[in-house]
Formats: sequence, structure tokens, C-alpha cells
Amino acid sequence: MNYMQFFSSNFKLGILGGGQLGKMLLYDCKRYDIFTKIMDPNKNAPSSKLADEFTIGDLTNYEDVINFCNDVDVITVEIENVNTDALEFLENNGKKVFPSPSTLRTIQNKSKQKDFYKENNLPTSDYKNYTCLEDIIHDFNNDNIKLPAVWKSAKFGYDGKGVKIIRSFNDIKSLPNMDCLIEDKVDIKKEISVIVARNQDGSEVCFPAVEMEFNSDSNLVEYIMCPANISKKIEEKAYEIAKKTARNFNSIGLLAVELFLTNKGEILINEVAPRPHNSGHHTIECCLTSQFDQHIRSILNLPLGNTDIKIPGIMVNLVGENKIEGDVIYKNINQVMSIPGVSTHLYGKKKSRLNRKMGHITIVNSEIEKAIKIGKEIKELVKVTA
Ligand SMILES: Nc1ncnc2c1ncn2[C@@H]1O[C@H](COP(=O)(O)OP(=O)(O)OP(=O)(O)O)[C@@H](O)[C@H]1O
Ligand SMILES: [Mg+2]
Repeated sequence: MNYMQFFSSNFKLGILGGGQLGKMLLYDCKRYDIFTKIMDPNKNAPSSKLADEFTIGDLTNYEDVINFCNDVDVITVEIENVNTDALEFLENNGKKVFPSPSTLRTIQNKSKQKDFYKENNLPTSDYKNYTCLEDIIHDFNNDNIKLPAVWKSAKFGYDGKGVKIIRSFNDIKSLPNMDCLIEDKVDIKKEISVIVARNQDGSEVCFPAVEMEFNSDSNLVEYIMCPANISKKIEEKAYEIAKKTARNFNSIGLLAVELFLTNKGEILINEVAPRPHNSGHHTIECCLTSQFDQHIRSILNLPLGNTDIKIPGIMVNLVGENKIEGDVIYKNINQVMSIPGVSTHLYGKKKSRLNRKMGHITIVNSEIEKAIKIGKEIKELVKVTA
């Protein structure tokens, strides 16, 4: 295989979605001199100025996706919510699409995703799928739902928005009437993520397991700590489950596997994402190969990079704190930039609003405890507002 065909050539990589994940993928495409095309509905999307070609289009529209992908050689995504019928048509006509349209279809629907784990004997919490509220109420009245439980909308959930903890019949009555699932509330000790990269040659490499800490109000990731503070045995088990999941999906590219470590020491799969992931941003500074570099390597069937930790670190998400949308201000950012080991990433979104992901900061230190301490101070210091 002549690896050079992708670099400084006529090769075109198409990326569906132009958010911050697309922007960070583009930095590495530029480094390799790979020609890129991006489509996003928003003309000011974070990736709009960095792509070689930027198209405004609806990612869920069949014609828009077909037209955009016509002249590209390999297609990838930075968001799951894309038109899979169009991608399937393109794949059947010889285009390389990674992740595969069938994987995307399974992942787009949390009910189908849970069924996939069950069919493949992958560990996940017990659940039941529903198509209407009436059936949930019926099951509850017949003692078939144990509370507390977790309700998830089957489609269009992201950043914790389609997730509700239900503790009472009142919570059940106020649920929306839509396709959904109800799963056992897991007794979580830690939330862990393992990102696995696979290429067509069947090579597979995991990124070091990280620990994720969530904000209990917004359900958004607040901190990512690398490495995770878990035993070697748990860590190995997490890699084994993540790799098996990626193999069962026949995954090409990255697959981020979100896991729950329970208080009993079990590891359960929460959900997966077939693309670069928020739990891998620290890899830019902390690992020999970043998740973005690795995604490009895997979808182009290039040799996968070594993911060893160069230096431990913590990643802090910068999210909007203002309720009313307005021009973004990063308060105290200069002070933060004077701290050694701090890298600031701003996505280029001009407007801040409540819980919008605006950027992230990675803090590295040869001692993880020191990085964590600085990370938590920075979280208090920086204010993203309008
Ligand atoms: N069964 C469960 N038991 C306990 N907590 C849960 C359960 N499912 C989800 N959660 C909590 O809710 C968070 C968000 O759930 P999930 O990852 O399914 O939603 P999401 O909307 O896809 O979120 P994101 O886009 O941030 O990954 C989890 O990280 C976890 O903290
Ligand atoms: Mg999640």
C-alpha cells in the first residue's frame, strides 16, 4: 500500500459536521496536508474557516448528503445525527464510509444500541424499550418497573438532554410520550471511557482509560482525568470490553466506549460514539498520538499510532454559564494562561449560552494529583459568559 496517496494529492476527505470535533480533526489533516471538505448547517461553525471546502447543508437531508459526498474519496463524521440512507446508498456504490452507515443507524437509536449489546452478550444494565407512555404506566402499575430508574429517549439525546432519573410515579406521569427505554439505575462508582481505534487491516489500539466526572445539574462532562484512578485488573477488563464492542460493530475509525464501574466492581457499557469524543481531548497534550490523529490514521488504513501517556493530565470543559445568549467573554482566561502546563482550546463559537460547549482546557503535570488540583481551581476561576 502506498501511504503517500492521501498526502499532498488529489485525495479528498469528506467530514459530515463542522463543530469543535471537526475543527480539531482539521488541525491534523492540515498537518498531513490532506484535502478536506466539511458540511454543516451553520455558516459560522467552528470548522468553517479551516476546511479546504466548506458547504452549508442539512446533515439529515438525503440530497444534501449525497451531493456533498459526490466527489470525496472517504467519508467520516464528527456527529452521529446524519442521514444514514444517503450514506448507505454511497457505501453500496463503492464509497468508503467510516463509521459504517449500519453502525451509525444502531447508535442513533438508544433502544437499538441496547439491543445490540444484548444480542452480542456485551455487559450493559437491564432495560426495556417502549413506544408509548401508556405502556410505561401499565408496567409501573403492575410492579414491573423498579424505582429509581433511568428514562432515555430513543432518538436525538445528546449531552445528557434525553436522560431523566425517575424516582416517583409523578416523574413517570410527566414523561413525554415517545420512543424510549427505561433502564436500571446503576450504582456507579466511577464513569470511565476507553476510546478504541481500528483500521481495515484489523489493527486495534486503545487509548489509556480515563475517568469522567459529570456535573450533576447539566449532566455534562466536567473533568476528564488521565490516567483513571482504577486498579490494573479493572483497567484490563475495561480494554477487553471496549475492544470486544468495537469488534462486534466491525468498527473502523474511533469508537469511544463510555463505561460504568459499579460499586460491586462490574463494568457495564453505557453508550458508544463512533468518532472523536469529549473524553479524548486531553490526548492532544497527554498521549503520543492524539485521538484526532488516530481517527485519520484508522479511516485511511494507515499504521495506528502509539497511545502511551506522555504526561498525565486533566481536561476541563468550558461551558456557557449565561442563561441569555450573547457575545462570549472568557473571564480570567489570561490569568489561567500564565499557569505552567495549561493549554487553552477555544472552539470559535461567537455566542455563549447556558451549557453550550465553548472550549476546553487541558492541564498536564508529571503528578496527576497536582494536575487535578490546578484543574479544579481553574474551573472555579474561568467564567464563560456573555
Ligand atoms: N443507567 C444509568 N444509571 C445511572 N446513571 C446513568 C445511567 N444512564 C446514564 N446515567 C448518567 O447520565 C449520563 C448521561 O447519559 P448518556 O450518556 O446515556 O446520555 P447522553 O445524552 O448521550 O450524554 P452525552 O452526550 O453527554 O454522552 C451518564 O454519563 C451518567 O452519568
Ligand atoms: Mg454519554
